[in-house]
Amino acid sequence: MAPVVKIEDLHKIYDSGEIPVHAVRGVSLDIHRGEFVALMGSSGSGKSTLMNTLGCLDRPTRGSYWLDGTDVAKLDSNQLADLRNQKLGFVFQGFNLLSRTTALENVELPLLYSKKRMSAKEMKDRAMYCLEIVGLSKRYDHMPNQLSGGQQQRVAIARALVNEPQVLLADEPTGNLDSKTSIEVMGVFQKLNDQGITIVMVTHELDIAHYCKRDLILRDGVVVRDELVQDRSVAEQELQRLAEAEAKAKLIGNPVPAT
Ligand SMILES: Nc1ncnc2c1ncn2[C@@H]1O[C@H](COP(=O)(O)OP(=O)(O)OP(=O)(O)O)[C@@H](O)[C@H]1O
Ligand SMILES: [Mg+2]
Repeated sequence: MAPVVKIEDLHKIYDSGEIPVHAVRGVSLDIHRGEFVALMGSSGSGKSTLMNTLGCLDRPTRGSYWLDGTDVAKLDSNQLADLRNQKLGFVFQGFNLLSRTTALENVELPLLYSKKRMSAKEMKDRAMYCLEIVGLSKRYDHMPNQLSGGQQQRVAIARALVNEPQVLLADEPTGNLDSKTSIEVMGVFQKLNDQGITIVMVTHELDIAHYCKRDLILRDGVVVRDELVQDRSVAEQELQRLAEAEAKAKLIGNPVPAT
């Protein structure tokens, strides 16, 4: 089957400043349906630049990009926006939820911009269904500031899912979360990936990358490593292990007083 993401000899040069910055230098990459890719590399290695290109948020200086068979270079900006809406879902480090808007309304928002003709009820049902997938349907009427960081990120994931994307792009989705909450978010991603959604995720954390199926490492705008994850972590098992360790610590922490 044709790859859902295909890029060939992609370059991105930023020439806004005094000295042009060659942020991505000839990356070629195929990502197939059902893959779960971690994009790693030190700060400034070009991860976000590559993700912005994959997300059709920015155009490459040189090279080709086919998203689900469509040559992105041939599209004008309106067509590009439509393609982005139909095929991609985005999750960011800072959640990017609208603060005066409920969880449900945040999730519904992309439907308002989509070309699907849906009634208000259909939109609400679809958004509720996505909140259910991430385990937050009971909090549908909460404002973002009434939710924990992990819950806010789950709302953001539900929002990314609402248009039934082929590919989920996440730029450091666990960057603002503690380690247990990060594993919970990885659990949501693993579940979605098991259901067939392709995921590309930027992360700085090796242990988080270990929940993915394939690790890519960028250095100075070039892919220097591309390998399958051996023995990958399973979020559900890790959370179970953590819960058991916590229960044990509580037992040790509160010894029964001697009589
Ligand atoms: N809009 C821009 N204009 C000019 N230079 C930019 C722009 N965006 C990024 N750069 C430069 O391109 C290079 C790659 O940046 P990029 O943001 O892709 O790195 P990154 O791997 O995502 O880093 P981090 O881990 O810190 O997020 C850096 O040298 C950066 O300074
Ligand atoms: Mg970045």
